[in-house]
Amino acid sequence: MARPVRNLARRDRIASHEGVKLDKKSVLGETPMLERLDDRIADPAVYGNPAVYDEIFTSLRRNDPMRWTSPAGYRPFWTVTRYQDIVEIERQNDKFINEPRLNLNLIEDEERVRAGPGRGTTNPMRMLVNMDGAMHRAHRNITQPWFLPASLRKIESDVAALAKEFVDLLEARGGECDFAADVAVWFPLRVIMTILGMPREDDQKMLRLTKGILGAADREIANGLSAGETKRKAIEEFFAHFATPIAERRARPTGDLASVIANAEVDGRPISDVEAISYFVIIATAGHDTTSSSIAGGLHALIHNPSEMEKLRSSPQMLPSAVEEMLRWVSPVKHFFRTATDSYVLRGRSIAAGESLMMCYPSANRDEDVFEDPFSFKIDRAQNRHLAFGFGVHQCLGLHLARLEMKAFFTEFLSRVEHVELAGEPAWIEGSVVSGLKHLPIRYAMRR
Ligand code: HEM
Repeated sequence: MARPVRNLARRDRIASHEGVKLDKKSVLGETPMLERLDDRIADPAVYGNPAVYDEIFTSLRRNDPMRWTSPAGYRPFWTVTRYQDIVEIERQNDKFINEPRLNLNLIEDEERVRAGPGRGTTNPMRMLVNMDGAMHRAHRNITQPWFLPASLRKIESDVAALAKEFVDLLEARGGECDFAADVAVWFPLRVIMTILGMPREDDQKMLRLTKGILGAADREIANGLSAGETKRKAIEEFFAHFATPIAERRARPTGDLASVIANAEVDGRPISDVEAISYFVIIATAGHDTTSSSIAGGLHALIHNPSEMEKLRSSPQMLPSAVEEMLRWVSPVKHFFRTATDSYVLRGRSIAAGESLMMCYPSANRDEDVFEDPFSFKIDRAQNRHLAFGFGVHQCLGLHLARLEMKAFFTEFLSRVEHVELAGEPAWIEGSVVSGLKHLPIRYAMRR
C-alpha cells in the first residue's frame, strides 16, 4: 500500500507557493508562516511520523528544493531535498566538507560542547564522519578491509547462525511480540559486537548508550532529560566503558576489530585515545541501529504490501532487490550536513562559503524525478540507486555488512514464519539523525 501524501496544512501550502523568490535569505524564512515550516524541518517529532515527513518534504522538493532554513534555536542551513543536488554535493568532498557541522543540534548544545574539554569544536567526538581529506582516508583505511565483501564472506555462516538464533527467539515468544524492540534491535547489535569482539553481557548497555546518542530527542527514550543532556551522558559513559577494552587490547592484541582500532597508527603514530574510542562509537552505533531500523521497517512494508510479501515468498531469488527497496523505503539515516568551503551555485541558489547544507536522504529516495512511483513499495523495482547509504568518499563503511545481515535475516524469517500481521500501532523514534521503528507489534504463525 502506498503511503498517502496528504495535502499540506493550508498555512504551509500558502507559504510554499507564494513569494518563493530565488535570491535566498529573503525567501519566506523570515515570515511567521515559514518560520513554522522551518521549525518543523528541525523538529525530531516530524521524523517520528513518516506521513508528516513525506508531506513536508514532498512539498519542499516541489516548491523549495534548496531551502534556506532558520529554525528557532538552531544555526541556519540549507535544506537539500532533491536526489541530484545531494549527489552533486557529496561528489565534491573538497568543496563540501564534514568537519565543522555534522548534524542538526541546538545552538545551546553545540556551545556546551565547544566550551567543554576537547578540541574547541562543536563535535564531541573525532569520528570518521567528522573527518575530511587525507585524515579521513587514513582513518577509513584502518577498518575498511574488514567490511569488504571478501572479508565478509568469512563470517557469512556466523551471521546466518545469528539470524537463526533471533528467529528462534521470535518463535519462543509464542505468536506475538514487539518485533522492533524484542527482535530487530538485538540481531544486528550482536553481529557488530561479535565483529568488534565484545561479550554478550555488553549488549544491553550498548543498546542503551546507542539510544542515548541517536534517540536522545525521543520523548520516550530521553525520559524527561533534554536531548543534549541525554546525549552528553551517553557519550561520557561510552568513553568510560571503552577505555578498558582499548587498554586491554593494546597490552594483549586479539584477532578482533577492537584490537585493530586500539593498535591503529596513522602517519607512523598511534591514534589518540579519543580517536580510538570515537572509532568504537561510530562502528558500534552506526553498525546496528540503522540495520535494525531497516529490518523492522522492511517487515512493516511487507506486511502493508501483502502482494509484495507473496511475491518474495514465491520468488526468494528476489531478496537482494527486495532488500534494496527496504533500504530506499526506510532510509534510516535522515540527514548529514556538509559545509561549503567556497561560494557555490546549486539549483540556482547562491551558497556562501561557511554555510552548511542538510542533505535529506529519505527525501532524495522519494524524488519523483529519479524514482518512478516513489511512494509505492516494489520489491522488484528496477534502477534502484537509492541514497540510503549516502554517496562518495563517506559512503557507508558497513553497506555490504548491512545487506548481508538483512538477507540472512529475511531468508530465515520467510522460510520459518508462515503468516505475519500487525497486532497494534507501530511507533517511530523521534529523531532527525538516525531513526526508525521503535515499536512494531506483530502476530504470527510459524510453519509446522
Ligand atoms: C541499513 C544500514 C545502514 C545504513 C542505511 C547506513 C547509512 C549510512 C550513511 C547514510 C552514511 C553517511 C554516508 C555519507 O556521508 O555519504 C553512513 C556512514 C557510515 N556508516 Fe553506515 N549505514 C548502515 C549500516 C552500517 C553498518 C552495519 C556499519 C558498520 C560498520 C556502518 C558504519 C558506518 C560508518 C563507519 C560510516 C562513516 C563512513 C565515513 O565517514 O567514511 N553503517 N552510513
